Amino acid sequence: MIIDCKKISEDVIGNLVEKVRILNINNIFPILAVVLVGDIFSSRIYVNSKKKACEKLGIGFQEYAFPDTVTEPELCDFIQKLNSNKNITGILVQLPLPNHIDKNRVCKFIDPKKDVDGFAPENVYNLYENRDGLYACTAQGILEIFKSHEIDLTGKNCVIINRSSIVGKPVAMMMLHENSTVTICHSKTNNLQNLCINADILITGVGKPKFISQNMVKENAIVIDVGISRTEDNKVCGDVDFENVAPKCSYITRVPGGVGLLTVAMLMKNVVKAAEIQHNLQI
Ligand code: GUN
Repeated sequence: MIIDCKKISEDVIGNLVEKVRILNINNIFPILAVVLVGDIFSSRIYVNSKKKACEKLGIGFQEYAFPDTVTEPELCDFIQKLNSNKNITGILVQLPLPNHIDKNRVCKFIDPKKDVDGFAPENVYNLYENRDGLYACTAQGILEIFKSHEIDLTGKNCVIINRSSIVGKPVAMMMLHENSTVTICHSKTNNLQNLCINADILITGVGKPKFISQNMVKENAIVIDVGISRTEDNKVCGDVDFENVAPKCSYITRVPGGVGLLTVAMLMKNVVKAAEIQHNLQI
């Protein structure tokens, strides 16, 4: 069964309409500030889709673009200004940043209550300790897939091929909190195929077309594809050899039209939640 991520993301966004209405009644008008550094084509596409989602929900959107010559102190100073601006309820620094800027030092500056990406240390720690907080959006999106299909994660062997702070580590933590047995794999992992073939749930974010072949996937596995790359004829694709892998799976996601849609939906959820937290409203 191909997972309908469009439907799941529409349901998430649909549930937020009422929450935004209640915020507005209380004179709270959420605004997302997006900081964009340099001129990266994929970042532009992602930021545009975030802007569109905000517009759909009547959430304010402000973009702040910097040339890639901006220094780390300049960027941190600017974030401090956004932190102290009461009208701004969400702050997002689009990644990647140029090499001369350390993303961890920048994310450390974001007020944890406005940290809609879940990258600030306090929120990373909240997730680590399974406490309420603002969590990374793609990881939340993946968990939303399981929730919407009432898939019990307890005792499942979950293999994740990605060790980034944006996807692999947060999703591993969430799967662990749901009682899965989690293995994180990466480019130095030995016997990847042996690990994958035993996975009840395989989450892949590598960025290589057809990286996941039929002989790496267990019969009836659930396969979540977070990879994004392009085929030789320039079409957007994921990591999975979809045609050959899909028939083996109980559930599978597509690229495009997959987890990416949920990342944006969960970002909107975080933007609303951040506004609620700042105004001590839990709707
Ligand atoms: N670049 C790729 N994915 C993301 C994300 O989820 N958030 C931000 N800020 N940048 C990204």
